[in-house]
Amino acid sequence: MGASRVENEMPDIPSVRTPPETFYGAPVGRRVTMRDLAQATARGERWPMITAYDALTAGIFDEAGIPALLVGDSAAMVVYGHDSTLPVTVDELVPLVRAVVRGSKRAVVIADLPFGSYQESVAQALRTASIFMKEGGAHAVKLEGGAFVLPQVEALAAAGVPVIGHLGLTPQSVNLFGGYRVQGRGESGDMLVRDAKAMEAAGAAAIVLEVVPAELAARVSEILTIPTIGIGAGPDTDAQVIVWQDLCGLTAGPAPRFVKRYADIRSTMSDAVGSWAADVASGTYPAKEHEYA
Ligand code: KIV
Repeated sequence: MGASRVENEMPDIPSVRTPPETFYGAPVGRRVTMRDLAQATARGERWPMITAYDALTAGIFDEAGIPALLVGDSAAMVVYGHDSTLPVTVDELVPLVRAVVRGSKRAVVIADLPFGSYQESVAQALRTASIFMKEGGAHAVKLEGGAFVLPQVEALAAAGVPVIGHLGLTPQSVNLFGGYRVQGRGESGDMLVRDAKAMEAAGAAAIVLEVVPAELAARVSEILTIPTIGIGAGPDTDAQVIVWQDLCGLTAGPAPRFVKRYADIRSTMSDAVGSWAADVASGTYPAKEHEYA
């Protein structure tokens, strides 16, 4: 058997070093768009979205092949240490959006509009979205709520802003819900379906469904043409989103039921820092090989 024959028979092994010709429909050199992701959904492809709040992790997720990075208002909790998403401001989120855009090359970057930055009026929503897009470089925005924010969704879409809706457990309404509880059970499920349809009609590019019964999420995903992005919404949404610190095991304490931990970064970091501290205390770090002559 000659060498060329062997080469011909080599299976086509995908390599992480060889970038694919296209990435979710985006040719090499251009970012994925919300439109590309809608087309991926139309082709029946499921896709992942993950939160990111800084350039370093945005780069890791981008290289790992995640097509959508969400700078969530969850930054209030996982970056700024608040106990809800309510306190975070536009001024606090814009630099994080800028860092995520800088750190990524291929993913679409979505900025979450924080509490109080879009509910007041259509004009306020347009103003806030334009800050995130002009100053942060975001490619899309996300906002929470149903019928109440339809005028905002319609105006943003008309102004050329890809806008993602968010229904179900909308954390900015935690005080109204009386806690982080499952939403959309019973009759409120029909209202959620109506809201989702109205969002699509208003021009939403996609809809996040958070902590709702899996059957309800499946029903909404069946009815809508735009992608549904689930978090705690079962397996039948078109995409899934997760807070990266939950997925990688950086957050402390018990995780919500829908979280599957794929790593234990908290222990790894804690062990590393503890070992370093012990070496500093014993004088074994820095060693000879860490010195400059
Ligand atoms: O703020 C956020 O991280 C979110 C996702 C959990 C959907 O809204």
